[in-house]
Amino acid sequence: IGSVEDVQAMLNELGITDPLPAYEAASVTTNPIDIFRSYIAEEMHKITGVSRDIVYPALEWTQQMEKGDLIMAVPRLRVKGDPKGLAADWVAKFPENQYILPPEADNQFIKFFFNPKTLARLTIPSILSKATKYGANYTGAGKRALIEFSSVNIAKPFHAGHLRSTIIGAFLSNLYEYCGWEVIKMNYLGDWGKQFGLLAVEYEEGGSEEKLNEDPIQHLFELYVQANNKAKAEEEKIKAGETLEGESMNDKARAYFKKMEDSEPNALALWKRFRDLSIVKCEKVYARLNIKFDIYSGESQVGADTMAKASQIMEEKGISENSEGAKIVDFVKHGYKKLGKAIIQKKDGTTLYLTRDIGAAMERYETYKFDTMIYVVSSQQDLHLQQLFTILKLMGQDFVSKCVHINFGLVAGMKTRSGEVVFLDSILDEVGEAMHEVMKKNEEKYKQVENPEEVADTIGKSAIMIQDMTGKRINNYPFDIKRMTSFEGDTGPYLQYAHARLCSILRKANIPMPLIHTADLSLITEPQAIMLLRTLAQFPDVISNTLKTNEPTTIVNYLFKMTQILSSSYEVVKVVGSEEAVARARMALFESARTVLSNAMKLLGLTPVERM
Ligand code: ARG
Repeated sequence: IGSVEDVQAMLNELGITDPLPAYEAASVTTNPIDIFRSYIAEEMHKITGVSRDIVYPALEWTQQMEKGDLIMAVPRLRVKGDPKGLAADWVAKFPENQYILPPEADNQFIKFFFNPKTLARLTIPSILSKATKYGANYTGAGKRALIEFSSVNIAKPFHAGHLRSTIIGAFLSNLYEYCGWEVIKMNYLGDWGKQFGLLAVEYEEGGSEEKLNEDPIQHLFELYVQANNKAKAEEEKIKAGETLEGESMNDKARAYFKKMEDSEPNALALWKRFRDLSIVKCEKVYARLNIKFDIYSGESQVGADTMAKASQIMEEKGISENSEGAKIVDFVKHGYKKLGKAIIQKKDGTTLYLTRDIGAAMERYETYKFDTMIYVVSSQQDLHLQQLFTILKLMGQDFVSKCVHINFGLVAGMKTRSGEVVFLDSILDEVGEAMHEVMKKNEEKYKQVENPEEVADTIGKSAIMIQDMTGKRINNYPFDIKRMTSFEGDTGPYLQYAHARLCSILRKANIPMPLIHTADLSLITEPQAIMLLRTLAQFPDVISNTLKTNEPTTIVNYLFKMTQILSSSYEVVKVVGSEEAVARARMALFESARTVLSNAMKLLGLTPVERM
C-alpha cells in the first residue's frame, strides 16, 4: 500500500467507490486511521459547514477504547448553539456508510467507531506488507537531526544519568530515523578539564602501562579515585593548618591542564592515549546495547579559535564582563533572573564546561546545519543548558531555536552487589545473571531454549530499558532488579514473553506465509479480536504522537495496553485447532500483532526474542 491509488483500489474492493477526499494533514498510505479521518472529516464538513482545516484536527484519538476510535469535542468546531443539541443533531444527519458504525452522541462529544470489517481490510494487509516499516512515516524527510547522548566522562564513573541518557538517546535516534530524519548520533565525551590534569599527574606518579592497556576504563577510574583521595587529604591538612611538602595535587593538576590547553605535545599525547583507549572500550559496551555512534566528539575537540570568536562576540555585545580577572555572564542584568551568574573564562585564561559547550554548539551548526539538535542530558543540568541556550540567543546565534534539551530525572540505588561504583558493563552483566536465575525457575521452558545465557542477557537488557522508559522521563525511579526482571506486571521480560508467545503460535500453526497474507479477513469477528485490531491500527498515530512528546513512555504504555488485550484474546481467538480459513484469518491478526510489537520493541532499543 505504497500509493493513494493503492488505498483507493482497496476501498473499491470493499465496494466503496466514492473517491477518498484528500486532506493535506492525512497520510493515508502510512496510517490507516487517516483514511477514516479523511472520510469522517469530509462528512462532518458537509453536515456542519465548518471548514475542513478545523474539522480534521478536531478528530482526536482516544485513550480508552470505550470512547471510540476517534472522538470529536463539539465545541472545537466553534458553532453557535448548545453543544449537546448539536451533537445529537449532527449524529442524526450522518449518512449510512461502510467506514464507520453509526456515530454516537455523548454529551458534547461525538464518538466514532470504525466498521471492523473495513478496518481489518485496511489495516492488516497494510501491516503485513509494510512489515518492519509499519508505523513509520516520512515527516522528517530531507531533515537532519543531531542527537547528542550518553556523553560519558572519560576516567570518571559512568552513572545512572549516563545510563538514562544512553537509553533515551538511542530511542530518540531510532524514532527520528523511523520518521524519515537523517540522524547523526554524537557522543560528546567529557574528556577535558582540570580533572584530566589530576588524572595525568596520578598516572605519571603511580599508573601502570599494563593495566591501562588491559582495561583502560577500570584503570583510569582507579587513578581517578586515588588522585581525588590524595587531593582531599591535602585539603584536610591545609584546613588543619598544616603545610604541605611540595606542590599540592590540585596545583599540579591545574598546571598540567594548562599545558593541555596550551597544546603542549607531551601533555596531549598522554591525554590522547587515555581518550583513544577509552573509546575502544566504550564502543564495545555500546555494541551490547545495539548502539553505534556516528561521532565521538568531546569537550577536547572544541576549537580554541571558535571559543575565542565566541568570547569576542560576547564582549562586543556586552553579554560578558570582567570580574576579578575572570570573565562572567551576569544573566540577571540581561533580564534572566533565574539564571544567576556563570563564569566563562577563568583567571588563568582556561575555559570551562559552559565555554566549551558554547563553542561546540556553534561548530556543530557550522558543520552539520542541523534542523534540530537534541541534547539528552539529566535534569540536574537544566540550569546549565538554559544558560547555554540563553547565551547563544543573546549572541544572535539563530540556530538556538533548533536546540532542544531532553531531560530526565534520577535513578536511585543503581549499585552492583559488591556496592562498588558501577560501570555499564557490570550493570548489564548483573541484570543478565538475575534474569538467567528467573528463567531457570521454569524448567520445562528453560530446557527448550537453545542459548539460555544469550537470551537471558537480551531479556536482561530489555528489563533495564523498559524500567527506564515506563514512566515519564522527568520522574525519578528506583533501580529495582527484582521488579524489572519479573515476568509479571509492566516489565521488559513481559513484553519479550508476549513476543515469544506470538512466535510460538506462528510456529505451531505452521501456516505458510502466503496463505496468511491472503486470508479472508471478514472471519475476524470476536470482540477480543476486534479490540486487538483497533489497537494495532493506532500504532502509526502513537508514533506521530511520540514525535511530539519525545517520551518513550508514549510507546511503552501503548505496548502494555496492546499486550494485555492480546493476552486476554488467546482464550477465545484460537488458531491451532480452528477451521482452516478461520485459523488463517486469526493468524493474520496475530502476525500483525507480532509485527507491531517487534517494530515498537526495536524502536525502544530492544531485541525481540523468539523463544525464552
Ligand atoms: N559529560 C557530561 C556529564 O557527564 C554530560 C555532557 C552533556 N552534554 C553537553 N553538551 N553538555 O555530566
